[in-house]
Amino acid sequence: MKIALLGCGVVGSGVRAIIDAKESRNTAALEIKKILVKDENEIDDPRRTTDFNEIVNDPEIELVAEMMGGLEPAHSYVKAALEAGKHVITSNKKMLASFYPELAAAAAANNRCLAYEASTGGGIPWIANLGRVAREENIESFSGIMNGTTNYILSRMTSEGKDFAELLAEAQKLGYAEADPTDDIDGYDVRYKCCISAVRAFNTYVSPEEIPAYGIRNIGMQDMEYCKKNGLVCKLIGHGALVKNADGSKAIDIGVVPSFIPADSMMAGISLNFNALQCVSHNLGAATFVGQGAGSLPTAHAVVQDMIDVMLAEEERAEEVRTLPVSTESLHNFYIRPSKLTAFGALVTKTVGSGAFIASGISFARLKEIVEQANDNNVFIAEIL
Ligand SMILES: NC(=O)c1ccc[n+]([C@@H]2O[C@H](COP(=O)([O-])OP(=O)(O)OC[C@H]3O[C@@H](n4cnc5c(N)ncnc54)[C@H](OP(=O)(O)O)[C@@H]3O)[C@@H](O)[C@H]2O)c1
Repeated sequence: MKIALLGCGVVGSGVRAIIDAKESRNTAALEIKKILVKDENEIDDPRRTTDFNEIVNDPEIELVAEMMGGLEPAHSYVKAALEAGKHVITSNKKMLASFYPELAAAAAANNRCLAYEASTGGGIPWIANLGRVAREENIESFSGIMNGTTNYILSRMTSEGKDFAELLAEAQKLGYAEADPTDDIDGYDVRYKCCISAVRAFNTYVSPEEIPAYGIRNIGMQDMEYCKKNGLVCKLIGHGALVKNADGSKAIDIGVVPSFIPADSMMAGISLNFNALQCVSHNLGAATFVGQGAGSLPTAHAVVQDMIDVMLAEEERAEEVRTLPVSTESLHNFYIRPSKLTAFGALVTKTVGSGAFIASGISFARLKEIVEQANDNNVFIAEIL
């Protein structure tokens, strides 16, 4: 099967290396015909081009893998490739989460695959396994550690007692965190991954902006002290669950929030830049998948797995997704440390020192209302699980 790569950075160069190595019968059956780059000098490869038209108008190219990142032109190129009758694989969580319904409809209309294993969980076969569970039974919920940068920082805050700013700077030096770390530390990266996981687990699309997201930007050593004293550790957790409202209607309880979990739990043991993703269903029970959530070859491995599925016609076609409202009735328990307690008075169940308090039995919707009213840029919020 002749294919084209869009982007040859960290992930794209890994895909090129795996396919060119022809290590297995399947990778040997894939042939890269074109590689789209921004600048001719970026790679020394006769297959490079800076013109997307050479790819989209080439009838020999059956599959396009988008690994450029960002919203545009990634979105336009993916749509154009599907409309030109090519299968598409993408590792781009932000673009996919933002445009999933439109792109899935374009894939369905042209009877082509839209595959995205690498977008969520990096090298971990998470999307494929969610699909395998969901084809047999209803998935009740998913949750997990989906961002290596924040897990690296939180693991080292726990084990070495270093503060957030120092560890963020170290993560940036080591290349684990971007120069602009906003997407990672404010929970937006995990929000995209929750959106994509909900599509595969529940066949339900919730736009990223609707998904509540709290990050670790404001975490302090006093919060780590609280955890230590109470036998807990802090992890940034993304979760989604299908729930029923009191009137019987369905909703989705979905969100991203730093979470205090028992120090002896399995998730607490997932350290540094690893990811761990769990789904829960009636027959299978809880199944957890652990591995490299990022990195050139692990992520490229996931992209190539999708290519092989498409080539062997084992990839399912995109189904039409439904939409559900985000639950306003599911209740959670939170640890909140605001700058000033007064603005959050209505939520206080009990104070726990260092200006923090516990808010029991409140919904993400109510929390959002109070946080917006308080307009407190330094508040730290964690869920107690
Ligand atoms: N890195 C990981 O471990 C990982 C894991 C999972 C998912 N992802 C996702 O995979 C995608 C790619 O990530 P990455 O780490 O490989 O990023 P990267 O290293 O920045 O690579 C992206 C490449 O695409 C090129 N590019 C951007 N716009 C282009 C255009 N219009 N035409 C041609 N080439 C263009 C970039 O060129 P310039 O550098 O010149 O802009 C760069 O070489 C992102 O969506 C990311 O979120 C990455």
